[in-house]
Amino acid sequence: MEESIGKLWDEKFSREEYFYGFEPNAFIALHTPLLRPQGELLCLGEGEGRNAVYLAAEGFKVTALDASAIGMTKALAMAKAKGVSLKTLLLDLEQWEPQEKYEGILTSYLHLEEPLRTKVFQKAINALKPQGYFIGEFFSLKQLPRSSGGPKKPSLLYTLGSLKEIFAIAGCEIVLLEECEVCLDEGKGHQGDALVIRVIVKKS
Ligand SMILES: C[S@@+](CC[C@H](N)C(=O)[O-])C[C@H]1O[C@@H](n2cnc3c(N)ncnc32)[C@H](O)[C@@H]1O
Repeated sequence: MEESIGKLWDEKFSREEYFYGFEPNAFIALHTPLLRPQGELLCLGEGEGRNAVYLAAEGFKVTALDASAIGMTKALAMAKAKGVSLKTLLLDLEQWEPQEKYEGILTSYLHLEEPLRTKVFQKAINALKPQGYFIGEFFSLKQLPRSSGGPKKPSLLYTLGSLKEIFAIAGCEIVLLEECEVCLDEGKGHQGDALVIRVIVKKS
């Protein structure tokens, strides 16, 4: 039987250190001022909690969602160590039916295959409050030969065209969609020059 996505990531996260470090993803941190202060945020595929803990420390009410039990436990431990509180949702996105509306939904390096990718990102847009933002950074398909991070399976990587199609839905505006080269310094998991795709979508 195929191992669940949660168990796969549990193996990676069961090492003692935080695989992607303690600091938030730089793109998410840079765009935090777009979000209404103290609003409710959801971090999708949040792993060990680095973005969620940062956002909670900035005064937001944050829920972190991930399929990895070890990731979510480590996220709560990091929150405790930093003196902030977090809500966690231990869930495979295959089963995700958003129950709340959020001012912002944020995600870094959540790599899903189709058709789950379209389903999850469109559900995320539906789960935003009016004027809310979806903010994400992902590896580009062009990152495939590089060793600075990211999946080694092409069907898990993204292109500008595929994301443009996913977010071409009524009731939202693509504020930013770009592919760029960045130098990553995120724990042991992401190190060095990488080709990423960044997206900001605003709900009308
Ligand atoms: C590359 S890690 C990124 C973690 C975190 N966003 C970060 O940047 O530090 C990808 C995360 O997505 C989660 N993930 C992947 N597929 C998922 C799914 N179907 N449901 C829930 N979480 C998923 C994994 O468990 C893992 O924590």
